[in-house]
Amino acid sequence: MKGKDLLSVSDLSGGDIRHLILDAASMKTRGWLSVLGGKTLAIMFEKPSLRTRVSFEVAMRQLGGQTVYLSPAEVGLGERESVPDVARVLSRYVEAIAARTFSHQTLEVLASYSSVPVINALSDVEHPCQALADLLTIYEKKGELKGLTLAFVGDGNNVARSLMLAASLSGMNFRIASPPGYAVGGRLLEVARDYARDSGAEIVCTEEPLQAVRGADVVYTDVWASMGQETETEARRQVFAGYQVDSGLLSQAGADAILMHPLPAHHGEEVAVGILNSPGSVVFDQAENRMHLQKALLAWMLGGLEVPLVDYR
Ligand code: CP
Ligand code: NVA
Repeated sequence: MKGKDLLSVSDLSGGDIRHLILDAASMKTRGWLSVLGGKTLAIMFEKPSLRTRVSFEVAMRQLGGQTVYLSPAEVGLGERESVPDVARVLSRYVEAIAARTFSHQTLEVLASYSSVPVINALSDVEHPCQALADLLTIYEKKGELKGLTLAFVGDGNNVARSLMLAASLSGMNFRIASPPGYAVGGRLLEVARDYARDSGAEIVCTEEPLQAVRGADVVYTDVWASMGQETETEARRQVFAGYQVDSGLLSQAGADAILMHPLPAHHGEEVAVGILNSPGSVVFDQAENRMHLQKALLAWMLGGLEVPLVDYR
């Protein structure tokens, strides 16, 4: 970990990611120790959540710690109280803060004024905990990461950016097909290209879903309109109409390809109705692995737990 916070996958090295995946896999199969007794995680969300909130709460409790959930109405981040003041006050009570914000900048301010670690539980820019848990799922299903190809079909959004960074740090090829104007780009694409050069991965950005998916080991998609973009929902339905993952598109992927989605899904939009129940779909394993991965993350960040690197290819 480069600093005290996990705001972006780029706060981690490829070695950190391997460590977390192995640690989580080990806890999942062999059990864990209550290393966080007496420690408290604040979960402060500006947007709704099912998986992230519950998986953090359960992870923390299983490790012997506890959580305090702060809903959007209770916190009034930047409205009832300034973000720096919230950061300084919470740092006096808790050992870490998991925050879900509309603006990534809010997270950066929170982190810079907190004396305790801040974990990005989703912002408009990234969703690092999702991407890390997804790599755990891919590792479980495929037995490796390096050399695999993940094809993302849809919006170059928070989930796509974190996956792109995590894949390129792990030597996994990342292809993304997005309509014009919705591609990943900017600084994080450059960062990912640097990682990919070092790890031997390839990054391909295209407008053609078929080009991305052909022969891929993993097909991944996410909602067309993310939280905070609700007013664009109808316009995005038109723009993304040709980007639905259906059985025809999936049939172009590799023979044993898995289908992934962070959930919540809009059946009939980014995924054809029923396809998330098809044999290759691993979406509920993904959801479960949020808890296992975050347990490893919390034990590492707050408990100083180290697990030796073994069996990783
Ligand atoms: N995948 C995910 O982050 O789900 P929630 O929005 O329900 O937390
Ligand atoms: N891109 C989605 C992910 C939800 C888990 C959103 O930000 O709403």
